Amino acid sequence: MNGKGKMKITCGTDIIEIERIQKSIEKLGEKFLQTIFTEDEIAYCEARKAQKYQHYAARFAAKEAAFKALSGNLKGGMNWQLFEVKKEKDGKPKLAIKCNVKDLENVDISISHCKQYATANVVATWKESAQFFDSHAHYNDEKFDEDRETVIQQIHNENITKMVCIGYDIESSQFAVKIADQYDFIYATVGISPNDIDNLQIAEIDKIRALAKNNKVVAIGEIGLDYYWNKENKKSQQEFFVKQIELADELDLPIVIHCRDAVMDTLEILKHRINPKKRGIFHCCMLNKELIKEAVKLGFYISFSGNITFKNAKAKEAIEEVPLDKILIETDSPYLTPEPLRGQRNDSQNVKLVAEKIAEIKGLKVEEIAKISYENAERIYQIQNKIYKEPRFKKIKQQK
Ligand code: NI
Repeated sequence: MNGKGKMKITCGTDIIEIERIQKSIEKLGEKFLQTIFTEDEIAYCEARKAQKYQHYAARFAAKEAAFKALSGNLKGGMNWQLFEVKKEKDGKPKLAIKCNVKDLENVDISISHCKQYATANVVATWKESAQFFDSHAHYNDEKFDEDRETVIQQIHNENITKMVCIGYDIESSQFAVKIADQYDFIYATVGISPNDIDNLQIAEIDKIRALAKNNKVVAIGEIGLDYYWNKENKKSQQEFFVKQIELADELDLPIVIHCRDAVMDTLEILKHRINPKKRGIFHCCMLNKELIKEAVKLGFYISFSGNITFKNAKAKEAIEEVPLDKILIETDSPYLTPEPLRGQRNDSQNVKLVAEKIAEIKGLKVEEIAKISYENAERIYQIQNKIYKEPRFKKIKQQK
């Protein structure tokens, strides 16, 4: 499961006692038959005379197995009439499904029966579908306080199968770690952003160091320089930036960089970083071709967000500048909602719109951009070797 798309095969096998079916039919009669079987199935089985109970039982087994195999993608509860076992001209049984099953490509069944038992086997083949890695989102933001768990469940259902929750001050970093601890598919970063250093002593970085020891923490960030919002404290911003780069080096973690109206100073600091082998990510990359060129030269990854879909955005030349093996996609949720949804709260599903735009400019399919950016994100965050597990959806409570 690493962005290559999934081809899931599920088998459901069941053994049904013929006697049990026979007793039910004798006891409950027509009503039972009509609940479980379709008219065609009843006609077929009745025509088998002495063997009819074996045929009923085999169909019963097939329906049970089908429910088991498909239940994850079926809407609504158990309804026996959704499935019908048909005999094809070649004599093989076929399963007709009377509703749409999400992402189902094909289903094969086999049924068999002897004197006492009937059994069925169902093999469901699922369509390949692209999986996405949202490399930067803030589910620790208060805009998700009302429905955080619901949204996280939804994005996972929509094939966002990895995501990094980004910290920006001590409290949000603590919360990012907490969220990552609750959900297997979510990772965290911890750091103090240039817009959150007011009233902080440099020694407080020790709190970030302590948080970074958690094994779901994949980077130090977001850190950097922001002269758009804060021009008065440039020296202090630089000090926090450098100290946190040193922390990342000490812990062997990449960095996630926030840079706004501070390109020259940011590049200057990065060029002189203590360990030049350590890399990172330019998040929500400003669409500045020169910055991108320099950042790529330094070995950094470039993460694009919804702003590439905005009108007048210089997305084309910026995206063209980044080699495929350095491209990441992100949402920066709940902010920076891409077109055509601008104005709404953003969530990770919309990372697909970012992928679409990049695919269009690079002349590739969305699935290809999904796969490439997925592998890039796993590489830079050094999580490619961690085993993907089905998520646990536990209750999270924010502690404030
Ligand atoms: Ni951010």
